[in-house]
Parts: sequence; C-alpha cells; structure tokens
Amino acid sequence: MKFRELGRTGWKVSEISFGAWAIGGAWGDVDDRESLAALHAALDGGVNFFDTADVYGDGRSERLLAKLKKERKEKFYITTKAGRRLPKQTPEGYSRENLTMWIDRSLRNLETDTIDLLQLHCPHPKVYYRPEVFGILDDLVKAGKLRYYGVSVEKVEEALKAIEFPGVQSVQIIFNIFRQRPAKLFFKEAQRRQVGILARVPLASGLLSGKMTRARKFAKDDHRNFNRHGEAFDRGETFAGVDFETGLRAVEALKALVPVAATPPSPKPKDSDATRASQPPMTLAQLALRWILEFPAVTCAIPGAKRPAQVAENIAASDLKPLSKDTMKQIDALYDTQIRPLVHQYW
Ligand SMILES: NC(=O)c1ccc[n+]([C@@H]2O[C@H](COP(=O)([O-])OP(=O)(O)OC[C@H]3O[C@@H](n4cnc5c(N)ncnc54)[C@H](OP(=O)(O)O)[C@@H]3O)[C@@H](O)[C@H]2O)c1
Repeated sequence: MKFRELGRTGWKVSEISFGAWAIGGAWGDVDDRESLAALHAALDGGVNFFDTADVYGDGRSERLLAKLKKERKEKFYITTKAGRRLPKQTPEGYSRENLTMWIDRSLRNLETDTIDLLQLHCPHPKVYYRPEVFGILDDLVKAGKLRYYGVSVEKVEEALKAIEFPGVQSVQIIFNIFRQRPAKLFFKEAQRRQVGILARVPLASGLLSGKMTRARKFAKDDHRNFNRHGEAFDRGETFAGVDFETGLRAVEALKALVPVAATPPSPKPKDSDATRASQPPMTLAQLALRWILEFPAVTCAIPGAKRPAQVAENIAASDLKPLSKDTMKQIDALYDTQIRPLVHQYW
C-alpha cells in the first residue's frame, strides 16, 4: 500500500482507502459479521483511512468502525459526515445547534472525544455562501470536538467555492472513469491550495468492476434499484449518473483495455494486444482504481465493499504499475464517445 498526504493535516493516508456506506445500508442486505471482516481485511491490507457518515444505516456504519477500533491496536483515521439528518436540505439547517447536535451524536457512535475529519455531507449549495457555517466548524475545532473538517460535494463548482474557506482540508467528489470533469480545473486549484481530494464512487457503484450483467437484480432497498433517476437523492450518486444499460456497454469496451497475462504470440497480433500484454495483468476494478491513482492531486480513492475478497482486490491496485499512456488515451477516447454527453456538463 502506498500513502499520500491529506491536505495540510500532516496525515499520510492509504491511497486506496475504504468507503463505509454499503456496510451501513441502502445497498441491500448486509451482515455485520461480514462487514466487520471486510473492515479487518482493509486494515490487514494497509488501509488507514475510513469514510463514513452519520446517516449510513442511521449510525450502523459508524458503530461498526467504533467496534473495529476496539478490536485492533493500529492507528487509523475515520472521517464522518454531517448534514443529511435534515429532513429537507436548507442553508438555514446548518445552524450551530444542528451541527453540534449531529456531531455529538457521531462522537457517541464512534465512541471518541474528537472526530478526525468531519465533512459537510453534500449540503445545500447556498451553504458555501454562508461563511458563518465555516466559522461554526472552526469553533468546533477549537472546542476539541473536531480535529479537522472538509466537505463532500456534488458539483465541481461547489468544490471550487468550498476551497476558498481556509479551514477546508479536504473535498470529497465523485471521480472515476465515468466522471472525469473534476480533473480539469478543480484538481489544479485544490493542489494549489493543498486541499486533499477523496475520490468517491470510484467503481461507479460497482459497474466498473465489470462483474455486472443485464440480469443483475438489485434488492428493493438498494439505491441501484430505487435511485436510478434520483428518486431519493442526487442521481449522480447511483452509477455515477450513467444509465445502467449505457454503463454496461461502455464497460464491455473497457474490458478490452484491461492488461492481460501475456500469451504465446498469435500469428497476426494487433497493436492493442501488444500493449495489453506488456503490462502486468489486473482486473477491471483494479484498472478503474489505477486510473484514479494516476492523478497526483487525488489523495485517495474510497471504494465501498461489503466483502473481504472485494477489499483485497481493490487494495491490490495500489501496488500495481501505472497504466500505460496508451491505455490512458484509450480510456479518454471511450469516455469522450460513450459517456461525456451523459455526465460531463451535469456535475
Ligand atoms: N455524498 C457522499 O458524500 C457520498 C456518496 C456516495 C458515496 N460516498 C462514499 O464513497 C464511498 C464509495 O462509493 P460507493 O460505495 O457509493 O461506490 P463504489 O465504491 O463505486 O462501489 C461500491 C460497490 O461496488 C461493489 N464492489 C466493490 N469492490 C468490488 C470488486 N472488487 N468487485 C466487484 N464489485 C465490487 C460493491 O457492491 P456489490 O458487491 O453489492 O455489487 C460495493 O458496495 C462510499 O462507501 C461512501 O463512503 C459518499
């Protein structure tokens, strides 16, 4: 596992970290024993940074992380989020009283006195025009309830506005092969201000693992069933905003770019075959994660996983060689032709 600096915190965090939404809820059935095994597998593989939220399973995810802390000796960081307990997103909802109440609840769930990194959880966009909200967060840092704070955003424009506040250490944003716009302007600005970037939904909700087919059925309480059109929250959070059928077609094309084990030369090799065989073999999930790691502005990717085997596969991406320039170019071309019109100007 390789590590990268997170903002100005001085922390070195695992470049493949752990997204703990799925082990909380909204992804079909979860079994706490298996979730805990997945968390242990993450620590075993060198992960030292876990992303959760007060609303994931209404605190279930935070409580599992508290349990992990009791069961292990090594130091790791937990970042949680606040804001989604509001029944309806309003800028006024981000009051001192509410923020303190949500944070106190997370402190209890996490069984700690101080939250390592608190992120506003995709707040109403007008929150970025209310400096007083960031003043309240500064006060909570001074009071010792938070070590640092950052934001999780839906759109590039929100990210650009958020990093104008000097206390913001990190921005969490959707970034993956199907969501490339953050890399254009935002990454440069974040690097210039030494703000960390947490790349969320790195596998486009599992689509980019390449293991899904048209026949895949999602449970009623899995957002990949109930939020495909943004019925419950921003539609961009489900398959990164790409419709399932289009996503599956693009994934088939991506599979042809995954480096494979070298095979004996065929009588008439194609150029692309030579490129694929010249790199170490990997899975599509690993290619998707490697693609993210090719951007030095990114602090870490935070793939979600419910099972230890998924965790192990995802973690292994850190130790693979960088993707070739040719593969990166072909991924860009695929994005431009099949995905860009569906997502690029929406977020
Ligand atoms: N607003 C926000 O702040 C926000 C929103 C979304 C996510 N997040 C954070 O970002 C994290 C990551 O995003 P995400 O969980 O939504 O999406 P993701 O990481 O793109 O996809 C996670 C899902 O992909 C599947 N998967 C993972 N590894 C796999 C592998 N190696 N092979 C096959 N399938 C695999 C699993 O689902 P199945 O096995 O069930 O298919 C897993 O639950 C979240 O856990 C959360 O911490 C934050």
